[in-house]
Amino acid sequence: MKVTVVGAGNVGATCADVLAHREIANEIVLLDIKEGFAEGKALDIWESAPIGLYDSRTIGSTNDYSKTADSDVVVITSGLPRKPGMSRDDLIATNAGIVKTVTENVIKYSPNAVIIIVSNPLDVMTYCAYLNAKTVPNKVFGMAGVLDTARYRSFLALELNVSPKDIQAVLMGGHGDTMVPLPRYTTVAGIPVTELIAEDKLNEIIERTKFGGGEIVQLLGTSAWYAPGAAAAQMVEAVVRDQKRIFPVCAWLQGEYGMNDIYLGVPVVLGKNGIEKIIELDLNDAEKALLAESAEAVKVVMNVLDNMNATA
Ligand code: NAI
Ligand code: 2OP
Repeated sequence: MKVTVVGAGNVGATCADVLAHREIANEIVLLDIKEGFAEGKALDIWESAPIGLYDSRTIGSTNDYSKTADSDVVVITSGLPRKPGMSRDDLIATNAGIVKTVTENVIKYSPNAVIIIVSNPLDVMTYCAYLNAKTVPNKVFGMAGVLDTARYRSFLALELNVSPKDIQAVLMGGHGDTMVPLPRYTTVAGIPVTELIAEDKLNEIIERTKFGGGEIVQLLGTSAWYAPGAAAAQMVEAVVRDQKRIFPVCAWLQGEYGMNDIYLGVPVVLGKNGIEKIIELDLNDAEKALLAESAEAVKVVMNVLDNMNATA
């Protein structure tokens, strides 16, 4: 299997590193626009192979898409990250231009690839990639929910002093402050989380999760990469190994949850064809209202992109 990661920065290089260490693909191409950058990162990852005991080949490329030809999966991380004081939406104009060009090049050389978007603002960049890939929507989707649920699960594990492995959770909506963690669908080794944590503490954790990206930006001066890179690699693995994993993924909705023509985080089954099924939960009225609010926030930014395209 061949996987390309576009953008050899913090998230892209981490994703490639996880893919190599876990031998998720036997050929990994890392591509960046910055001269020599991807080659340097790819070489460094390859030089850790004798220590990490893996044989996935990692190849770097400065903007030469012929090296990405016939990739099975492509992860797009190219674009600016947030700085303190910026929202994810502040990145739209610059990153839309980057994602458009990158997607056109990717699809030219790998017309059948599954494309996973990471660049922010995530839901709208996924929409941008879909518009430019001109392929089926089940093959173009975004990574956010795996990261956001990982943050939620990690905070719950700290609070309960249990292994994060035992915490399962669903989170829906856009990758922003309106995301919707769902306590009713959160369990600890099968036990409903509401039986283990007081309501006010759980609400605190939910709020921390919603602003989890910003918490890291405040600490580092740029956005996170270890958890985002690992989250993207986990989604690649589900596709490459046809695992049929259930993850929250930014997916194109056509009637699901009563919504149309919008990219939004929902639980899906991921396998070799990309999104193989969107799972429709029986949300209660309060959950539906939160999801609608989140969808509204995503729509506003999708409209910004549509207007930019209309005047381009
Ligand atoms: P970074 O700045 O470390 O890396 C971005 C890389 O993209 C740079 O190396 C840059 O040279 C490259 N690049 C820019 N234009 C390019 C082009 N046209 N073709 C190829 N490469 C190009 O940034 P980082 O931290 O890796 O973040 C990348 C993106 O991912 C940002 O937009 C960030 O906001 C987003 N992100 C999304 C997350 C999510 O949950 N969806 C989580 C974390 C980051
Ligand atoms: C994150 O959630 C900034 O989207 C990025 O870390």
